[in-house]
Amino acid sequence: MLRTRFLTALFAGTLLLLPLPTLAAEAEPDLWVTMGRDAFDALRAEASLQPALSAQRFAEQDGVVVTRLVSSEIPLIAEAMHEKFHRCGGFMAHDSYAAAVQALGRADRGRLGQPFDYQLDQQGLVNKLQSELEESRIVDTIRSLSQDFANRFYSQESGENASVWIRNLWAGYANSRPDVEARLVSHSDWRQPSVELTIPGGSKADEVVVLGGHLDSVVWSGGQGPGFAAPGADDNASGIASLSEVIRVALANDFRPQRTIKFFGYAAEEVGLRGSQEIANSYEAAGTEVVGALQLDMTAFQGSAEDIALLSDFTDPTLTAFVGQLIDTYQPTLVRTSTACGYGCSDHAAWHAAGFPAVMSAEARFQDTNPRLHTTGDTLANLGNSAAHAIKFARLGMAFMVELGIDAGAEIFTDGFEAGNLSAWSESVP
Ligand code: BES
Ligand code: ZN
Repeated sequence: MLRTRFLTALFAGTLLLLPLPTLAAEAEPDLWVTMGRDAFDALRAEASLQPALSAQRFAEQDGVVVTRLVSSEIPLIAEAMHEKFHRCGGFMAHDSYAAAVQALGRADRGRLGQPFDYQLDQQGLVNKLQSELEESRIVDTIRSLSQDFANRFYSQESGENASVWIRNLWAGYANSRPDVEARLVSHSDWRQPSVELTIPGGSKADEVVVLGGHLDSVVWSGGQGPGFAAPGADDNASGIASLSEVIRVALANDFRPQRTIKFFGYAAEEVGLRGSQEIANSYEAAGTEVVGALQLDMTAFQGSAEDIALLSDFTDPTLTAFVGQLIDTYQPTLVRTSTACGYGCSDHAAWHAAGFPAVMSAEARFQDTNPRLHTTGDTLANLGNSAAHAIKFARLGMAFMVELGIDAGAEIFTDGFEAGNLSAWSESVP
């Protein structure tokens, strides 16, 4: 029962617009999805996925296909991708056909503006704040998230409760700072909100530095009912815990940057980067200048000989090189390497697609990632009840926040800051 009509070409270049079949009414697909052509073809070849994968190829550009799914098919698709591609072959979900087509060709477009001139010049403050980060606090946060919330799936009540818990944790850290706000960012199409903490900037408040990680969790096999375990201790309670410890120490030290700092716990990453896309796209629409977005997704499992792997795809090379320098300078005993997911595997890809410089630091080379990812075995116990690895990413996050948040010239005020008066210190910078 397919009627065929043709779409008007909105985009020039290599975009291929295909006849748009009208689906039978009973299929009721409600989600537009972009995914790699290889993944799309492999899924279509899978007989067991019929008829769930009613997937039509509506448009294609540079090896990325637009298709349409029923939301409830996502677990099936994700599981099949996991099996076929060994947990690679990610996809991005979009609200409309227009949004999906717009995402084509934006997926790997990189930054639109001039490269930002990142400078490393805040040694005094970074070293001081890094020294206060506590591994045990990171363990505590991973424990709470992975054990107290049955799962953190984007459509579940416990997924919503997890967001509220994180908001409250961050609000508690901001207790002494009425200028700092921790709030929920609601999304119209699903239950789970994202969480945002803002440290307002001073002299460069219009420029924004982003640090984030996803707060949802998933176990694809076996359904997603209430009470179904998806502990996600490494993926990604660990990233949220590392970020939370940066927030705690920064605010305990009355950190007052020149640029505005935004911390995010993104909702609905596991179902196609949905929370981070809404947020990054809203920054793009508002014309906000984001000077850099750091993504922490999985920080607690050391699967490679190296300590930190920086992603080379769907990220900004200049910012990634700078983050490499931050590691070499502030954690000189660590060994770092470079790796690639091969697809937009986490929320950095949403910022990247929106045209902002993004960087993602990973716990291991891609092929050495925690093998318990997306299983009921992704627990704190299976991380050895340790955040020895995760604290390296908290140190990195601290260096990132301070170095991007404050420009050179501030070190002459180091005396003030050593005396505990950070406000006078950073606000005095022109
Ligand atoms: N934490 C993973 C991404 C990841 C995988 C990071 C391996 C580092 C190494 C993330 O939560 C995830 O599962 N992403 C999906 C894709 C997403 C677009 C739905 C995946 O990798 O399949
Ligand atoms: Zn994941």
